[in-house]
This record gives sequence, C-alpha cells and structure tokens, in this order.
Amino acid sequence: MQDTWNPDLYERFLVERSRPFYDLANMVRKQQGMRVLDLGCGTGKLTHYLHTSIAAQETVGLDSSENMLLTARQLEGNGLRFALGRIEENPVAGKFDLVFSNAALQWVTRHEELFAKLRAKLQPGGQFAAQVPAMDSEPVHILAAETAQEFSKELGGYVQRLEVLTPEDYARLLYKLGFVEQEVRLQIYGHLLPSREAVVEWYRGTLLTAYERQLDALTYERFVERYSEKLMKCLEDERPFFFPYKRILMWGCI
Ligand SMILES: C[S@@+](CC[C@H](N)C(=O)[O-])C[C@H]1O[C@@H](n2cnc3c(N)ncnc32)[C@H](O)[C@@H]1O
Repeated sequence: MQDTWNPDLYERFLVERSRPFYDLANMVRKQQGMRVLDLGCGTGKLTHYLHTSIAAQETVGLDSSENMLLTARQLEGNGLRFALGRIEENPVAGKFDLVFSNAALQWVTRHEELFAKLRAKLQPGGQFAAQVPAMDSEPVHILAAETAQEFSKELGGYVQRLEVLTPEDYARLLYKLGFVEQEVRLQIYGHLLPSREAVVEWYRGTLLTAYERQLDALTYERFVERYSEKLMKCLEDERPFFFPYKRILMWGCI
C-alpha cells in the first residue's frame, strides 16, 4: 500500500506537535542505562531527544512508514536505531525499561489487547508512557468521517476511525494490567495557527493520510476540498486562529 506519511507536511506544525511530547518525556523517571522502545517514532527527531535526554543505553524507534524513517535513519548511532514495522505485530524482540509512544497508538485498534501486549514488553520496574489525541468527538474528526461516507463508493465503504478510550478507562486499564503507580492527564493545548485553513493542513499531515492511501490523487483533492468546505462552516474565521487540541497523556510503572 502507498506510504502517504510525509515528513515535511507533518513537521509543518513541529513546534505545536512537540509540546505534548516534551510533557510526556517529563513524566518519565530517568534511570541509568535504560533500554527504550519508541512506538510510531515518525521522523525520529523526538526519539533522538528522548534517547539523549535520559542518557539511554539503547533506544529503538519503530515506525511503519519508510518515508518517515528516511529522516530518522540519519540520526542513528550511539545506541539509537530505527526499525520498520507495525506496532501491533510486535516486531522488535526483547524487553524494555521504557515503552514510549507519542501520538501514534491511536492508529492501532483494540487498546485493551494492545496495552496488555505492551505491558508484556516491560522489564520488572519498567515504565510505559503514551500520548494520544482525544479529538474524536470534535468537528475535525466527525466531518472527516462524514466526508468519507459521502465518498463511500470511491472508498469502498472505508472510514478511518482512531482508537481513543476515555482518560478514566486508560487509568482503569493501567490498573488492571498491574501498573503499581500511574498518572493519566487530559490536557488542552491551545495552538495559535495563522488561519482556520491551517487546520486542514494540520490534518493533511495526519488523519487525512489514511484517505490519501485509499484514493487516486484527483479524488483525494476533491475529498480534501469537501472536508474543508464542511469544516470552514464550523470554525470561526479569525486570524490567528485559536485551535484547542485535547490530548491524553499517561504514564505508569510496574
Ligand atoms: C502523528 S505521527 C507521530 C510521530 C512521532 N511519534 C512524533 O511525536 O513526532 C504518527 C506516526 O505513527 C506511525 N504509525 C501509524 N500507524 C502505525 C502502526 N500501526 N505501526 C507503526 N507505526 C505507525 C506513522 O507512520 C507516523 O510516523
């Protein structure tokens, strides 16, 4: 299948997208000589930051996009390496002191099952830290699904839904999986974007990549146009545009 992740498009909002990453990295308890697994590492820049800031002995960044990993591979060395593969297929062998993931687990379904598998990758005393967007009930997501229904014929009925539980369900899940300490936060990041049109650009770099994979180039442009038309009716026409973005940050140790 076509790889529609695009590092340049994704990093157009690098400053905004990095803020929750730094907050998540700050939740990690630094220990000596850690082995770290970063799931859905993307371009690897933040993985590199994590690796050096906690002085990890070894860090493996895993991502299913060869495009994203092209940039990441330039950062390899000093115990940092990257691997191509899908989170749900558990392609990286071994156990880790920290399983980390920023803005990627929402692409994998069945979080109860997934988290149990990730818990099993931890060494005794190991830590898990993850951040997922919680925007599924916002117009940006609802209207993407609505547009997908309008393009049902071209998409063969495909609708991309991102998996996100409530913060309290994540807290319960961590408890059930035997995390002896935990912290789960819902946080709103207020982003100032140049205009409301930038919200569409933001989503072209993430959620809409799923539709881009399913459609030919012209149909995808029509899809984005229609999505944009619907979205503009819901967003205030102000410059700069204030974009409140909800995210769930979670940390636990066993
Ligand atoms: C929103 S980006 C986050 C990248 C990075 N963690 C960051 O914070 O900049 C999501 C990444 O998850 C990757 N991804 C999505 N589904 C995946 C899966 N099932 N297995 C592995 N990687 C996946 C994408 O290729 C993309 O690079």
